[in-house]
Amino acid sequence: MESRRDIDKLVEMLTIDEKVALLAGDSMWTVPGVPRLGIRPLKVSDGPAGVRGSRIVPAAAFPAPVLLGATWDPELVKRVGHALAEEAETKGVHVVLAPTINIQRTSLGGRNFECFSEDPWLTARLAVAYVRGLQERGIGACIKHYVANDQEFERMTISVEVSERTLREVYLFPFAVAIAEADPWCVMAAYNRLGGTYCSEHPWLLTTVLREELGYPGVVMSDWFATHSTAQALRAGLDLEMPGPPQWRGEKLRDALQRGEVSEEVDRSARRILLLYERAGRLDPGPNVVEERAIDRPEHRALIREVAASGMVLLRNDGILPLDLTTYRRIAVIGPHATRPAVGGGGSAFVRSHRVISPVEALREVAPQCEFLIAEGAAIYKLIPQLEHSDVGVEGITLVLYPNPEFAGEAVATLPVPSTDFIWLGEVLPGVDATNFAARVRVLYRPTESGLYVLGASAVGQVRLFIDGELVLDNWTAPQPGRTYFGFGSAEQRAEVALEAGRTYELVAEYRKAQPGMPLAGFRFGVVHALTDAERIARAVRAAQEAELALVFAGLSPEWESEGFDRDSFDLPGSQNSLIEAVAAANPNTVVVLTAGSPVNLPWLDRVRALLLAWYAGEEVGHSVVDALTGVVEPAGRLPFTYPRRLEDTPAFLHYPGEFGRIAYCEGVFVGYRWYDARGIEPLFPFGYGSGYTEFLYRDLVLDRSILEPGETLRISCTVQNVGSRDGSEVVQLYIGFPGGSVRRPPKELRRFQRVQLAVGESRSVTFTIDSRDLAYFDEAAKLWVAPAGSYEVLVGSNARDIHLRQRFEHIQEQQWKAGERFLL
Ligand code: BGC
Repeated sequence: MESRRDIDKLVEMLTIDEKVALLAGDSMWTVPGVPRLGIRPLKVSDGPAGVRGSRIVPAAAFPAPVLLGATWDPELVKRVGHALAEEAETKGVHVVLAPTINIQRTSLGGRNFECFSEDPWLTARLAVAYVRGLQERGIGACIKHYVANDQEFERMTISVEVSERTLREVYLFPFAVAIAEADPWCVMAAYNRLGGTYCSEHPWLLTTVLREELGYPGVVMSDWFATHSTAQALRAGLDLEMPGPPQWRGEKLRDALQRGEVSEEVDRSARRILLLYERAGRLDPGPNVVEERAIDRPEHRALIREVAASGMVLLRNDGILPLDLTTYRRIAVIGPHATRPAVGGGGSAFVRSHRVISPVEALREVAPQCEFLIAEGAAIYKLIPQLEHSDVGVEGITLVLYPNPEFAGEAVATLPVPSTDFIWLGEVLPGVDATNFAARVRVLYRPTESGLYVLGASAVGQVRLFIDGELVLDNWTAPQPGRTYFGFGSAEQRAEVALEAGRTYELVAEYRKAQPGMPLAGFRFGVVHALTDAERIARAVRAAQEAELALVFAGLSPEWESEGFDRDSFDLPGSQNSLIEAVAAANPNTVVVLTAGSPVNLPWLDRVRALLLAWYAGEEVGHSVVDALTGVVEPAGRLPFTYPRRLEDTPAFLHYPGEFGRIAYCEGVFVGYRWYDARGIEPLFPFGYGSGYTEFLYRDLVLDRSILEPGETLRISCTVQNVGSRDGSEVVQLYIGFPGGSVRRPPKELRRFQRVQLAVGESRSVTFTIDSRDLAYFDEAAKLWVAPAGSYEVLVGSNARDIHLRQRFEHIQEQQWKAGERFLL
């Protein structure tokens, strides 16, 4: 209360200009302070799989959120939150733009990897854990994207048409729970529209639901460049326009104030922003900016490794796993991810990481006696892959920066960099403005095979490549518009060169950017050996034939699964399906490790001995995968979504991606497994599935009452025993089945879950408590949550299609709650 009064006083002390300035960013990642009063600026950063900073220096790459979803382990997710708070400190960041708590509505969603689950309840529990983890350590969370931002197709404009009941039960639900239980410092308003109105200027979303019903005290910021008006957005409840400099505030807001189009809303939002500053310690004295540091912490690596292995899902295993690598002499390691694994999906969630451990490296560590036959097998790049540290030897990659586009005068910095792929937003370095500068990169490249190589380069601006002083690629003289860099970059130029094995070539790239007003800068270039698909497969088959075991690292990558676009196919890209078929035919011991954040077609599933879904596992990916394959750590993940047999079976199939600027959520509340249950469709793998290395027995389901009266809770317990031959963990899942009635409900919905770790033979009693609120649906005519009277069923199982125990209870009397009250604790 005291602090609230202080904030009110502070608002009174601000001039109009100071208030107006607080209501918008002043750069890509900062909101200004009030220098006159010693109020310091605030810095935000993506999120959610690491804290990127401005990407000048590397950061720890954590597993993608879908992998966190697969852990079904809020405690573990909270520990990730703690670590992310430490990462934020090293980047001088006060608010992390995370977690993403949208719903995996369609299997093709470009940002599925960035979301936890298809299920609102699982999403909500992990959201609470993630937010608490960050905020317990003094760093703010920003839950996003509010709301129904569940696809990338027409993402900046599409209008989501969804019933209020569906919105409240599914898409708003994680936001409401996170706000009620974890009080995130910020909420990010989504790009899309809802019922025709942009989320960033939607009075019902931003004021009725958020403030009046949920009592949210924090800051609502726009997604990047998602503000569309001055007075309308502010009046609707958008506190902060991001990023800066403002397009809709600043001068325009001062004019709107003068015209009387807004008035007290400015104080209201300034108050919320100052409250955020107080929470972030920005009202106290201290340095304005903290230099970004790249600290590769062993304890964060250990956590990344632990989390990754425990979120990986074993989808198939005929008994070949866990592998005892000491028994093999020769192993074929095949696939595009074997030596160049993808640590995360693409877009704003992509983290330029510290050193990445590849599967091949990790295999060499644990099985030094083994010979590894390595073959890429398939090319899945869209752009010619950038060079990494591991491609260029000890000299590394050096970036030299000039503060002008002419390479004139002294360079301002010479930096070692991890790859030849660069992106900057705003400032490149202090003194180097991203709108106006030049850069030169030098690498020494030694091909291991003679032959034809393809070079590629693209840029926001101009880029050209020289080999041994000779210009070989010109994307400088006449760059054409392309799709790189969110559509601001040039089309990739390619050039072919013949290179000889063993020779050292000096490869130099020059980059120039002279575009006032364009804060995005970047360029990338790479080299690849020009081989046909058939040649790649033939090499892989040869390796598989000569080995006792073939490990295939296949999947998607940030080029295929990313913010900005949805996937356009359910199939693996490139010739990976043919590759896996060919390898499986050549070697009877073929195991596939899949990198993906969404389901992909698996036509070869029956022909491989095991399939491990490794997601995007972060920078320790190699270690985690090998831990899981060898059983050092059990791959203990459970699917956070339903894995369909065909795209045609999926709930949104007929209506996705929408037409005429609209996407209708016609499946209503029947998202994910609710759809498959209601339609009697057999999934390939059910929601909640994951086999692990042991087996469990469920028994003794006990409900402490058979009749649930108003105000009472129901205690549900059962016993789970590890009846397999290895220690392991199970995720006990509790679903509720509803009585029939006039309102159509899914056959069952997830309401509780618990991960239990059990030694061989050990049993444990697991207890859950539910109450009437867990029985409620939203009645959109009465605008109330209603838990009808009737006979309900408790279903306890290992996944949505493997229910071991069930028992009925009577809910004796209908209960109702007003919209926001449903979430009161
Ligand atoms: C994304 C947000 C992100 C923001 C800042 C937007 O394109 O939708 O999730 O936080 O950019 O990078």
